[in-house]
Amino acid sequence: MSASTSVSAAPRYQPETQLVHAGGMRSPFGETSEALFLTQGFVYDSAEQCEARFKGEEAGYLYSRFSNPTVAMFERRMAVFEGAESARATASGMAAVTASLVGQLKAGDHVVASKALFGSCRWVVEEFLPRFGVPSTLVDGLDLDQWRAAARPNTKAFFLESPTNPVLEIIDIAEVAKIAHAAGATLVVDNVFATPIWQSPLALGADCVVYSATKHIDGQGRCLGGIILSSEKFIQDNIHMLLRQTGPSMSPFNAWVLLKGLETLHLRVRRQTDTAAAVAEALAGHNKITRLIYPGRADHPQAAVVKKQMRGGSTLVAFEVAGGKEGTFRFLNALKLIRITNNLGDAKSLITHPATTTHQRLTPEQRAELGISDGIVRFSAGLEHPDDVIGDLLDALKQV
Ligand SMILES: Cc1ncc(COP(=O)(O)O)c(C=O)c1O
Repeated sequence: MSASTSVSAAPRYQPETQLVHAGGMRSPFGETSEALFLTQGFVYDSAEQCEARFKGEEAGYLYSRFSNPTVAMFERRMAVFEGAESARATASGMAAVTASLVGQLKAGDHVVASKALFGSCRWVVEEFLPRFGVPSTLVDGLDLDQWRAAARPNTKAFFLESPTNPVLEIIDIAEVAKIAHAAGATLVVDNVFATPIWQSPLALGADCVVYSATKHIDGQGRCLGGIILSSEKFIQDNIHMLLRQTGPSMSPFNAWVLLKGLETLHLRVRRQTDTAAAVAEALAGHNKITRLIYPGRADHPQAAVVKKQMRGGSTLVAFEVAGGKEGTFRFLNALKLIRITNNLGDAKSLITHPATTTHQRLTPEQRAELGISDGIVRFSAGLEHPDDVIGDLLDALKQV
């Protein structure tokens, strides 16, 4: 088996083929399915070989905190699919987000980020980084002038997610990348909501892309995981040592589950996107819905940017239920098939009330600024028959 995790020389098959085969390594047993190397460490033929491995003179695995063949297969497959030179897997999406920023920052640097971030990402930027002497400025990600104005001579990184969580605003990644680079900063994009099927931030000019693999990549609610993808230089300069020495490592077991998830990712995301589009169509104009946001629709406020940077719509639909929190909770509690949760990207259709879960830490004013009213819900399409999902939503809306 090859020990290398560099994938720059991988052949360029069609995306669906890459998701099934890229980065795979076969042991001498000739297994069909990728092997699960559930081992903490590795043994060596001699003390000389062990020394050579530790000196980096011989390729090979050392210790699963920082190198494991099953994890390497997941990293390589993701890197090939994303068009990245290199990748490092982490224990969760938040470990990936945090490492992608912390790894390139030091005291005295400054970060600019969009205000519309998943709650934990916003905490990292707004509260955690400043504790270590890295102040941050939060901007309205849709307003390019705000990104420009926020950059300072010591700005080191820009950070955004698009579509945003939960109201699915679309930030122009190529334009923000230009502003970041003009300011001498990097752009890190959290691509969780878009999925690698519909959006490729590196091709749009971003320097680094991060995922919570917990979402669509697993897609069946089983395990946590994260991944950081970038150039070999970015990974070597900023990420490799941080992960190796601090240890937010992906379990080989989770890497194996996620490899299986990748094999069906495009089928699942396409089907979920079709269902989400059908849900948006069925709910648009409904008298109990006061606002509906779906990136695949012509009435999306940033429809032109969607067309420019995404290859498809979204597996998520955001909408506002009439009657505030009370009406919305009546609707949520009346759902029979769709489950209430804070997660997304699963085979099961899921629904989230961001104001009381993912974004409850924000003040009412901060939520209002982001368009997160007490009636906003985020629907994540699963793999059920679309008619059953739409029927459940329409039945529950009768209770509002
Ligand atoms: C946009 C976004 N980024 C990052 C994360 C964090 O991922 P994880 O839960 O795998 O740590 C989540 C969800 O939890 C998310 O929705």
